[in-house]
Amino acid sequence: MAVVGILAAAGRGERLGTDVPKAFALCAGRPLLEWSLEVLESACDRVVVAVPPDRTGAPDRVAGGDSRSESVRAALRAAPEARIAVVHDAARPLVTRELVEACVAAVDEGWDGAVAAARVSDTIKEAGADERVTRTLDRGMLWAVQTPQAFGADALRKALEEADDTTLAAATDDASLVEAAGGSVRVVEALPDNIKVTSELDLRVAEALLRARAAC
Ligand code: C5P
Repeated sequence: MAVVGILAAAGRGERLGTDVPKAFALCAGRPLLEWSLEVLESACDRVVVAVPPDRTGAPDRVAGGDSRSESVRAALRAAPEARIAVVHDAARPLVTRELVEACVAAVDEGWDGAVAAARVSDTIKEAGADERVTRTLDRGMLWAVQTPQAFGADALRKALEEADDTTLAAATDDASLVEAAGGSVRVVEALPDNIKVTSELDLRVAEALLRARAAC
């Protein structure tokens, strides 16, 4: 009845501008991926990490693919025993064990997927290519989706194995693939401080938040 963590850490992270892949950039004194690896290891029976192909030289490190979803698929293929898969982006170092466990609990209750998400506080508008606003969305129904995302492993396997390469390349998260395959997915409320590191500024903010947390 294994809960397997899948850590997506195979991106090049060109927007960060470091000379190492993003997941290996130093953040508050450790490689970025170490923060979320430690949390996943505390909440899962095993963790498989998708890494750039030249960094596979350790147990449970598999070569990632060209897109994030292909990396997740490669890691999940290495965990045939998984009953629940918890997918997490190494780019979100502020994940907590409690949040992982809340997502896993929702899958245990029978959902195909459960995704960490924060309520949206900005007003969200849609605009065309000419920047003319076409629609203002109802903020009360909007969630900014993060990782972790927990899934019944078979539902995720089906979604990843049946999608073609174009669909995988376009997917910005795994839940959208499970939804498209007809799976039931719910949100699990998370704090907005579970930020994703994309830019140098994000890295500095994440460092400040991690150090503040350590000081508590
Ligand atoms: O590029 P982006 O910030 O959306 O990546 C989100 C996460 O997916 C990162 O942790 C990154 O390492 C991972 N990723 C991956 N394989 C890829 C691209 C991204 O594991 N081919």
